[in-house]
Amino acid sequence: MKTTYGALALAAAAKVAYAHTTVYAVWINGVDQGLGNSDSGYIRSPPNNDPVKDVTSTDITCNVNNVQVAKTLEVAAGDVVTFEWHHNSRDASDDIIASSHKGPVMTYIAPEDKGGNGTNWVKLAEEGYNASDDTWAVDNLIANDGKHNVTIPDIAAGNYLLRPEIIALHEASNVGGAQFYMECVQVKVTGSGSTSLPSGVSLPGAYSATDAGIEFNIYGDFSTYPIPGPTVWDGASSGASATQAASSVAATSAAAAVSTPVAASSAAAAVQSSSVAVVQSSTPVAAAASPSASATADDEDEYDCDDDEEETTSSAVAVAATSPATTPAAVTPSSAAAAGGNYISTTTEVVYVTNVETTTVTVTAA
Ligand SMILES: *[C@@H]1O[C@H](CO)[C@@H](O)[C@H](O)[C@H]1NC(C)=O
Ligand SMILES: *[C@@H]1O[C@H](CO)[C@@H](O)[C@H](O)[C@H]1NC(C)=O
Ligand SMILES: *[C@@H]1O[C@H](CO)[C@@H](O)[C@H](O)[C@H]1NC(C)=O
Repeated sequence: MKTTYGALALAAAAKVAYAHTTVYAVWINGVDQGLGNSDSGYIRSPPNNDPVKDVTSTDITCNVNNVQVAKTLEVAAGDVVTFEWHHNSRDASDDIIASSHKGPVMTYIAPEDKGGNGTNWVKLAEEGYNASDDTWAVDNLIANDGKHNVTIPDIAAGNYLLRPEIIALHEASNVGGAQFYMECVQVKVTGSGSTSLPSGVSLPGAYSATDAGIEFNIYGDFSTYPIPGPTVWDGASSGASATQAASSVAATSAAAAVSTPVAASSAAAAVQSSSVAVVQSSTPVAAAASPSASATADDEDEYDCDDDEEETTSSAVAVAATSPATTPAAVTPSSAAAAGGNYISTTTEVVYVTNVETTTVTVTAA
């Protein structure tokens, strides 16, 4: 290897212009789990470090190689999992990602069995922009040698995918310019955790190319940055029944976590067409415009198979068309609880939602 150092260095230098990145390894409570980014490892890793740019593509789930790999890491509630990103190699000299590629760093989790399909992704951590020292999550990632952490919540034992993600915003002032980097790490959560994951978002589905945090000019004048996707789950509220959430009203962060993603996903289409009965909500209605746009923008991807997001959207509309009869005439937190069903809640509003596809799109009552 030593003899090829010059050539490798040259290759690395040639790639700096692109400055892409992938996850090479994971640490658990500070213990290195070894190189994981191969078929014999534990990271569903793409064949190269290119970004995904089409938010409607199934590549946004776990990148372009979302197939099971050989190993699964065992973790328990409370464990700190550290993701280690690199540009070209797991080497101290590696530059991680170009410093120009400023943007947020996030981590999601979903049960493994559906391969990341469906509205199962729950956000566990996020870091965006800190105005007080003008620092982006990517700046901190580089300063931390490519590492960022997430703590495993006290969830039911089972196999899950952890999905660390970086969004590089250096070209994001143009629609479609944001670069998405993500991988999926196979973990088995052990122990006797009793909290079930709340309903989550679908990926693709949760993001729109025109979301405020995805079409964003980092060179402009701003003091805050809206991190895309759902809010972070607090790890405590269970994803349980509408009834349970109804009694605790929208004050729980589970309800808050759910309201954003559902509104932003294709489920919003169902809400918009079926929720005649509902609410003077600007949140879901405004957000409902984006999924229809994304549903028609799935053709520029080389990944030419049935597009999950497109199917989801059309089935959502079909369900909605036959469902208004079952929509409560006027929805309040208490009538929501009484009628059962699925709801999007915000602090002041409740929106009836029809189920979409086989997985419940939603939610909790408010
Ligand atoms: C991440 O976790 C490691 C090991 O558990 C710890 O040493 C490190 O300080 C953590 N980093 C941050 C930024 O919290
Ligand atoms: C997930 O969706 C894709 C695309 O629609 C499909 O090919 C794949 O079989 C699904 N995976 C699972 C595990 O359901
Ligand atoms: C933002 O930066 C300030 C100044 O360095 C620091 O004190 C603060 O902890 C940072 N906030 C976050 C959320 O990291």
